[in-house]
Amino acid sequence: MRVKKFIVAANWKMNKTTAETLEFIKDFKLQFKPMADREIQFYPSFLSLPPFKNEMSALPIRYGAQNCSAQASGAFTGEVSAAMLKDFGCTTCLVGHSERRTLFGETNEDVALKSKALQQAGLTPMVCIGETAQQRTQGQTLEVVAGQLKAVLESIDLNTPFSVAYEPVWAIGTGKVPTFAEITEAHQFLRKQLVEKMGDIGKSIPLLYGGSVNSQNARDIESVPEVNGFLIGGASLKVASLLEIYFR
Ligand code: PGA
Repeated sequence: MRVKKFIVAANWKMNKTTAETLEFIKDFKLQFKPMADREIQFYPSFLSLPPFKNEMSALPIRYGAQNCSAQASGAFTGEVSAAMLKDFGCTTCLVGHSERRTLFGETNEDVALKSKALQQAGLTPMVCIGETAQQRTQGQTLEVVAGQLKAVLESIDLNTPFSVAYEPVWAIGTGKVPTFAEITEAHQFLRKQLVEKMGDIGKSIPLLYGGSVNSQNARDIESVPEVNGFLIGGASLKVASLLEIYFR
């Protein structure tokens, strides 16, 4: 049992108006050619999701939100539920991105509950984990990511799809990339955790790398064992740089 397709996932964060999204999509459609061994996913803002649904439905792409509520429905002003995302047409959603953990105080428990809610609604959670610079310096990287992963694995249904993105916090948006040895160590460790908890099926869970991926370093990082995809922020905002990574 192996991960089938290499995933190229675009995390747009809080970028692009509807007009800018439509412009991107127009350009993307002119240049995109689906590759059999690759999958492309988009995580735009909530308000930029409709153009994906309306303009890209003929293309083999997946799209989803960057966050959702752990609650099913009710008095939670400002929140969007997993069921609403599913109803809209999303098939996936980011959970626990480091910006949500650090800027909005999301805990491992929140991330676990959101992942569970997404699965229950029929979406694939993309669970983001990763250590801070200080944690790495103090030699706590593996312990931190193991704790983040464990919280989720204990809460979700292990027989229902999910994916994991390893994103060292210090590598996000900084241009700093871990060494190949560091990425290898983290990904092999995470794969081992998945297999220990899930058995052979743990080998089929996509393990993405994120943090300053660009068209210059993508080929090298892709060659690292157990890297099954990329979660890309900055370099996903332009069609040219995203597709350079996709086509490689
Ligand atoms: P970056 O962001 O590619 O701009 O470093 C990655 C992410 O935050 O998912």
